[in-house]
Amino acid sequence: MTTRQPRRPFRSREWFADPHRSDMTALYLERFMNYGITPEELRSGRPIIGIAQTGSDLSPCNRVHLELAKRVRDGIRDAGGIPMEFPVHPIFENCRRPTAALDRNLAYLGLVEILYGYPIDAVVLTTGCDKTTPAGVMAASTVDIPAIVLSGGPMLDGWHEGELVGSGTVVWRSRRLLAAGEIDEEEFLQRACSSAPSVGHCNTMGTASTMNAVAEALGLSLPGCAAIPAPYRERGQMAYETGRRIVDMAYEDLRPSRILTRESFLNALSVISCAGGSSNAQVHIMAMARHAGVDLRPEDWTEHAYDLPLLLNMQPAGQFLGERFHRAGGVPALMWELQAAGKLHGGCLTVTGRTMAENLEGRETRDREMIRRFDAPLLEKAGFLLLKGNLFDFGILKTSVISQRFRDRYLSRPGQEGIFEARAVVFDGSDDYHHRINDPALGIDEDCILVMRGAGPIGWPGSAEVVNMQPPDALIQRGIHTLPTLGDGRQSGTADSPSILNVSPESAVGGGLSWLQTGDVIRVDLNAGRCDALVAPEEIARRQRELPPPPVPRSHSPWEQLYREKTGQLADGATLDFALDYRRISEVTPRH
Ligand code: FES
Ligand code: MG
Repeated sequence: MTTRQPRRPFRSREWFADPHRSDMTALYLERFMNYGITPEELRSGRPIIGIAQTGSDLSPCNRVHLELAKRVRDGIRDAGGIPMEFPVHPIFENCRRPTAALDRNLAYLGLVEILYGYPIDAVVLTTGCDKTTPAGVMAASTVDIPAIVLSGGPMLDGWHEGELVGSGTVVWRSRRLLAAGEIDEEEFLQRACSSAPSVGHCNTMGTASTMNAVAEALGLSLPGCAAIPAPYRERGQMAYETGRRIVDMAYEDLRPSRILTRESFLNALSVISCAGGSSNAQVHIMAMARHAGVDLRPEDWTEHAYDLPLLLNMQPAGQFLGERFHRAGGVPALMWELQAAGKLHGGCLTVTGRTMAENLEGRETRDREMIRRFDAPLLEKAGFLLLKGNLFDFGILKTSVISQRFRDRYLSRPGQEGIFEARAVVFDGSDDYHHRINDPALGIDEDCILVMRGAGPIGWPGSAEVVNMQPPDALIQRGIHTLPTLGDGRQSGTADSPSILNVSPESAVGGGLSWLQTGDVIRVDLNAGRCDALVAPEEIARRQRELPPPPVPRSHSPWEQLYREKTGQLADGATLDFALDYRRISEVTPRH
């Protein structure tokens, strides 16, 4: 092991092997020896491998990593590296107020400083809950040291009275049952709790599963990593193998800049379309691509990710949950299908040191109920559609969750297929929605579209998952479970609502939703990719001149203020604009 030569000298040598500063090396040693590293080890030139620990009591979706890290350490040591575990700013989707989205960029910033400012040669990024994956990948790109993603894996499948109940999705569906009077509060709670039977992240193809699948599709995880449920034996083995592999990557100097290319990002777009993945992936993929310096454009969503079929039968677009996905072969089996159909860039380099096509050899699924053949899908043209018009320049529609009932009602009028008009009911944030949705005076019926504004990165702040609004109780009781919705925030990846999301620019920065009024008619034309309010230009100009802008709450913390000053719109990934100027910063050693 000691005779191995790294392709690029390990940057940790700058700390530990400075012949002029043996006093400093002694100081480092004095501290590290408390932890079990011998002077010989630190001087030996072995790579120091960071384990970016995202698990904690505050981030329960990633808590399994507290255990898995031990296996990662074993792998690192057995392969000749020195493990150094450190904490990442916690992110918990369901608990962080005003929204966990505020923390993706904060965790990113913190991680960049750790990876840059400490003697770390390569890093294992532990991921799970929604934003933990993009935060890690964004930071790894900025610093550009060898990096590998270890997902924590989904929870076991949830069951309630013989029925599969999945994270998030069961909540949205049970809320409608509650509103319809079909279940009571106690039953609601039981269903929700049953959906979370173990450690792990959400077990549906929500944002967590989507982003971990994205990491694997990008080539950043060992094959099969994303889908292994958190409590499974294979999860621990994957942690060990990931630890072993990152040591080799350190020697090979296999950095994110060699793996993350336009082609690998297009692969990720294709995978999430076929998986019925989360619309939040649009934001995070844009952010990761921009930090990687990859030219990905908003149009790529329609051009590369709409015309693909839904192949994965997993909630919310399908029936099953994470355990079945893993047993069916996980992400490699899904990508195998794309590869066989000629829809994959197989030549992309991955963390294995081999190409994606090589990784996929022999990975065809045997479970055709879970992963459909490309020519016998669950749904044709099931990807993401991009819309624009006089209300916004960018909005995205996840078509895989649009129900047949909705398609029949809104999208199938003879001669007008894919086109509908609806009367807007406008809400200023989710409090306003909850206060007024059941107000009979609003006269909400099936010809309405529910609009949420003030929910974007600047308005909320952080951008909230609040656009998936359910209809008034009275409508639900009549069997109308969904209305079209539209908003400048996001929706949960576990939701099954037909929503126009991530609308940019948002109302808080003067986007079109800021002048929209309840009663205006909105016309959606999916064929033309348009969404317009049927309001005359003179009237729009008058409103912009005369009416006060919608309210925006003040910032309540320093980070909220800084975030608002520096963050862009969802269309572009809601990144910190100034951070994009920094790339491959590990090529410069920080001054002593
Ligand atoms: Fe953390 Fe779903 S809430 S993974
Ligand atoms: Mg979410």
